[in-house]
Amino acid sequence: MHTSLKEGLQFLINNYGAIILSSLIAIGIAVLLRQKGDDRRSGGIPGKLGIPLLGETFSFLASTNSTKGCYDFVRQRRMRHGNWFKTRILGRVHVFVPSVEGAKTIFANDFVLFNKGYLKSMADAVGKKSLLSVPQEIHQRIRGLLSDPFSMNSVSKFIPKFDSELCERLKRLEEEGKSFRVLEFTMKDLTSKERLMQVAFDGICDMLLSITDASTLGQLERDITAVADSMLSFPIMIPGTRYYKGMKARERVMKTFKAMISKRRSREEAPDDFLQSMLQRDLYPPNEKLDDEEILDNLLTLIIAGQSTTAAAIMWCVKFLDDNREVQDRLREEQLSILGNKPAGTLLKYEDLMNMSYASKVVKETLRMSNVLLWYPRVALDNCTIEGYEIKKGWNVNIDATHIHYDPAIYENPMYFKPSRFDEMQKPYSYIPFGSGPRTCLGINMAKVTMLVFLHRLTSGYTWTVDNQDLSLERKAHIPRLQSGCPITLQRLDNRNA
Ligand code: HEM
Repeated sequence: MHTSLKEGLQFLINNYGAIILSSLIAIGIAVLLRQKGDDRRSGGIPGKLGIPLLGETFSFLASTNSTKGCYDFVRQRRMRHGNWFKTRILGRVHVFVPSVEGAKTIFANDFVLFNKGYLKSMADAVGKKSLLSVPQEIHQRIRGLLSDPFSMNSVSKFIPKFDSELCERLKRLEEEGKSFRVLEFTMKDLTSKERLMQVAFDGICDMLLSITDASTLGQLERDITAVADSMLSFPIMIPGTRYYKGMKARERVMKTFKAMISKRRSREEAPDDFLQSMLQRDLYPPNEKLDDEEILDNLLTLIIAGQSTTAAAIMWCVKFLDDNREVQDRLREEQLSILGNKPAGTLLKYEDLMNMSYASKVVKETLRMSNVLLWYPRVALDNCTIEGYEIKKGWNVNIDATHIHYDPAIYENPMYFKPSRFDEMQKPYSYIPFGSGPRTCLGINMAKVTMLVFLHRLTSGYTWTVDNQDLSLERKAHIPRLQSGCPITLQRLDNRNA
């Protein structure tokens, strides 16, 4: 045999393993690239669906269970596939929609081309008449009836009450001199009766139902937390499961609400609150009032939707201000000047909040960076395209608010906490912490008022030290929160009006 041919054969025999491996890799890369090209050409979305049903469920659960939080799952896939990607979680295809254009298309077609996905456990938890479960026509009617009690005008009545409660609690926390978790504002060694700082929860219950009694609040909080935890559980009534505990807790909550309604109807009590504004419509025609089931389910929905979101936003605000002293100083300056212009010891009013222009930007920047609700899920009701990408009927499309809020093309140096970036107006759909369209957050005014009053009292009355700088996120939480709960210790500022 010819020597060079012989050498060639010898080379092939000696290296056949490596040759087969590199050929396979080359073929694999070619297939992947072709698939990617085909995906793009045909409007397909890159991403891995994996095997039917399971898909990437385990990876998603692993991220949710880790201290990096469930958004890490999205981050990793985006690095692999690009900004638009699809995945399969628990048997459903999810497309993460990363753009302002995409958000606009979905929000503008809410209820028409897209709707909230129906989860039995969620509907069972919040109730069939909840805003989160009802079809479009009923949703429109309920929102119409709720818009007045949640308007800035109605919410502003609650400012002095909330302010007074907050001043008292901050004062006691400072006097105790102990570290407490901003997330729940509880000190481990205080009894639950003392409920020093469940401000967000207590504030909402006060505004909706005028509940101020510590033991009723404590029981309600435990029960409503159990209901909220059951929203994403497997809907089977087996004692010990999250779903079972949630359903039992829901029964107790409904019993408490019903007892309050009958007390009000028998004229034993008539406080000026949300519930009373609903009951005053008892004699109105059916389309101008909520029926009892609608009142009950929506009371529960409002507390669930409002409490953990506001509490997490307050916690992030404290953390960001601690990390950015120059912002804290500027905010304190503004708040001290507001305090200085009022007679000593007077409570805040709506007009005072109107003068908090820097604080409003601090709130905005906190909501941009913390992304309390990471993405907003919808289900496509028909085949459609968004920005040329094909979406099939039944797929989940998740408006990725987090990606939009961290997009460097929209926000310069997006990782940098800079409230003054809001000196300029934002382009439509580029700032969406409260969503948009027919399902825009109903509690937007209440959330803003709560945060502004809190920031005023905290910065004009105190300085603080964060006692745990660990950035790990709470496991299994769908709202990003620090695992530590952001414990702080307060020091009183020496000023005459505090
Ligand atoms: C910082 C605090 C809050 C944030 C960041 C927030 C965020 C949001 C977002 C993004 C949505 C829309 C979700 C979607 O489109 O899928 C929403 C809906 C909603 N929020 Fe809030 N929220 C907050 C506080 C509150 C408060 C205090 C309440 C009431 C007491 C409330 C009640 C609701 C309700 C009832 C809905 C559903 C509206 C509907 O489907 O028509 N939220 N919230």
